[in-house]
Amino acid sequence: MFNLAAVLSSYLIGSLSFAVIVSKYYGMDDPRTYGSGNPGATNVLRTGKKKAAALTLLGDALKGVAAVALVRCLQEPLGLADSAVALSALAALIGHMWPIFFGFKGGKGVATALGVLLALSWPTALVCALIWLVMAFGFKVSSLAALTATAAAPVAAYFLMPHASWAAATSAIALLVLYRHKSNILNLLQGKESKIGDKAE
Ligand code: G3P
Repeated sequence: MFNLAAVLSSYLIGSLSFAVIVSKYYGMDDPRTYGSGNPGATNVLRTGKKKAAALTLLGDALKGVAAVALVRCLQEPLGLADSAVALSALAALIGHMWPIFFGFKGGKGVATALGVLLALSWPTALVCALIWLVMAFGFKVSSLAALTATAAAPVAAYFLMPHASWAAATSAIALLVLYRHKSNILNLLQGKESKIGDKAE
């Protein structure tokens, strides 16, 4: 019962799409209507509004941290299983990608995945964040940085996470994030992917 409630609460927290919330706050267009159509920090940045993009990144990452940290804090008092923590991590991502509050039209999950990893195992998150930073500074393509960091996540998790179920959840999260980047992968293969800082048309 508590295990199910934990997973559900994570899904609801993950469903808070900060790209849409922050854009509304600043009176900007819904990010699902321009650029890549993705409600995420990279697409919000295409408007040129750096503060809105930074707040989106922060909000989406922190909700991942909050969803999993909450469940971890309650794990002992409520007797939650390690697998419930793992499923909660996955549920936060599913909430971000298919948010109940925003017509199930969510984002690609990179910032939220980083937040979730941070709450599960900070060394894993650190490895992924460093890979993202090196790739982003090297190639200036957000999706390429995200894809590389995402591909490394299950490997890092396998070595650094304390429970097999958490590493398994990380693999499932990575697969979902890669799946949500289908159009980016196609653009990269065709040499059409935009660079960080390019404006939306
Ligand atoms: O974090 C999302 C990024 O990897 C790709 O975003 O807007 O270029 O599809 P976008």
